[in-house]
Amino acid sequence: MEVSEALRQRRSINFFDPNREIPEGVLEAVLEEANLAPSSFNLQPWEVILVKDKDNKRRLRECAFNQPKVEEASAVLIVAGDPMAVENHIDPVLESMIRLGYMKAEDAARTRPMPFKLYGEPDSERRRLFAAKNASLFAMSVMVAAMGHGLSTHPMDGFDEAKVKETFGIPDRLVIPMLIAVGYLKEGVTLLPRGMRRPLEGFLHRERF
Ligand SMILES: Cc1cc2nc3c(=O)[nH]c(=O)nc-3n(C[C@H](O)[C@H](O)[C@H](O)COP(=O)(O)O)c2cc1C
Repeated sequence: MEVSEALRQRRSINFFDPNREIPEGVLEAVLEEANLAPSSFNLQPWEVILVKDKDNKRRLRECAFNQPKVEEASAVLIVAGDPMAVENHIDPVLESMIRLGYMKAEDAARTRPMPFKLYGEPDSERRRLFAAKNASLFAMSVMVAAMGHGLSTHPMDGFDEAKVKETFGIPDRLVIPMLIAVGYLKEGVTLLPRGMRRPLEGFLHRERF
């Protein structure tokens, strides 16, 4: 599927086929593709909790204000961002850049302090924004990649973050920008026309706001 077509056809699906499973390996392929999303300093601060088990989906639905799609979709991804990815990922990323010929060891040593300076202390608001921003780019990539594999999705912000963390053993420092329900549109369901979009002139500011 062409990228333009995927973007034009993507919809947030409310009615998933609850009896259809995603074939083995398909979700992994989607996640591998989404993992190519860009990220600041290539730090890739995303973590994904893949929830497929019936009981776990029921538990997640309870954390998500009882939204039926959480239980009806074949799988739900809890997309999280880790503010500590600066500390935890910087060295392997820089080592790979040296290996791939992007930089020499001395350039890597000069680069290393930069994300620490840019994003501040691990518990700062800037770090949480860094984690949420990059994990959200990953999440959008998941939704586009899913289209290419014949899957539909639905992003969700309607959940109790503390409850999701407690139920699924997610460390408190992580941020959860969204859940993504993934599966197949229920047979016989006709979608209403897509919701309105603001026209280009409504949000495009040329040269200056
Ligand atoms: C971050 C985010 C959070 C959302 N949260 C919810 C949600 O909790 N429940 C819901 O029904 N839809 C949710 N939506 C879906 C939006 O309502 C939907 O994307 C929007 O109406 C546009 O529809 P479309 O995605 O089909 O184009 C969310 C979308 C995004 C991007």
